[in-house]
Amino acid sequence: MKNVQALYQSSEILEKASELKEQLIAWRRDFHQHPELGFEEVRTAEIVARHLEQLGLEVKRGVGRTGVTAVLRGKEPGPTIGLRADMDALPIQDQKQVEYRSHVSGKMHACGHDAHTSILMGTAQFLTQMRRPERGTIKFIFQPAEEGLGGAQAMIEDGVLSDPQVDAIAGLHVFPFVPVGRITAVRGIGCAASDSIQIRIIGRGGHAAYPHMTVDAIAVSAEVISALQHIASRNVDPLDSVVITIGSIHGGTARNVIAPEVVLEGTVRTLNPELREQMPERIERVIKGITEALGATYEFTYHMGYPSVKNDDAMVDLVLKASEQVLGAGKYEIVKPSMGGEDFSYYTHKIPGVFFRLGVGNKEKNAVYPLHHPQFDLDEDALPIGVAMLAEVAHLFLQNNP
Ligand code: NI
Repeated sequence: MKNVQALYQSSEILEKASELKEQLIAWRRDFHQHPELGFEEVRTAEIVARHLEQLGLEVKRGVGRTGVTAVLRGKEPGPTIGLRADMDALPIQDQKQVEYRSHVSGKMHACGHDAHTSILMGTAQFLTQMRRPERGTIKFIFQPAEEGLGGAQAMIEDGVLSDPQVDAIAGLHVFPFVPVGRITAVRGIGCAASDSIQIRIIGRGGHAAYPHMTVDAIAVSAEVISALQHIASRNVDPLDSVVITIGSIHGGTARNVIAPEVVLEGTVRTLNPELREQMPERIERVIKGITEALGATYEFTYHMGYPSVKNDDAMVDLVLKASEQVLGAGKYEIVKPSMGGEDFSYYTHKIPGVFFRLGVGNKEKNAVYPLHHPQFDLDEDALPIGVAMLAEVAHLFLQNNP
């Protein structure tokens, strides 16, 4: 592929992976046109499973409900590395004006999981037909339901990390704010723990002109929302990160009626697991204090979501080395953690793992919108780079571990 050679330092691995480029684009666009939400990835999983079967791999369907796995064994025994892609789309209306835009109203691959799936299908083909490992085993893990439903956990409960026992795991996420041809990774905690909260503020409704005879749930909510930000700004060590976002607020029916009740929903993100443990109590203390002071009552639920992603140092080193071999020197960057959540974390709490970012940003191709945006798109030149990266990480792991 000429343009790949022109844009990045040519490497043998990338040139070889680029032979799959048209196929990678075709898969990615097909998935993009037919997005499926978490645990509904029936069509996607079937296409994945058939491809893996055609490659002659040992394929398992229905792992963690709609997940698929495949095993590739080298000639000699050795360690096992898992490579993981997520397959689910989001309930977002696609607003792009391209021929491969979503055909399904209200559903869209706005987080690039279509690309992840296509890249891992390509990686399986690449490693089976073009660069088969001498020793060790590779397990390809196509996971459902990353977007909030915990598909990783479902697969782990279904034994994805055993038979054969997986010793380490790697995964990637496309990232539009990193230009195509570059890789970023985080050392240590890579993504935040992602929890959700619901707060019901219960006051006493009444006539808008007689506030003294009511307890105004909207006014109380406003105080609660402001005060919650004090946890982040005044209450937590500034060197520890926490985000508390109230993303939805519902209450009231008319402009001249005092609302008896307001429901607030939000998300809490933390990097430090100890701080995370303290968040339910700290948040409730604020809600309790304010509602009590203002004569209201409350109900509070704190739902623990995904834990934080822990990147293993030795695995990060493999990614950096792979980046040098695939893209040439200086194409990676070690970056700060992100407050985004990612259920790859469940694997990294069981075995050493690394989750890195694949640059897909390109102004000329309109790949400038953030993840989860209705216009999100990516530079498909990144697809063979993703294949070469995952394949190289697998090779390096199998060569360097007993
Ligand atoms: Ni995602």
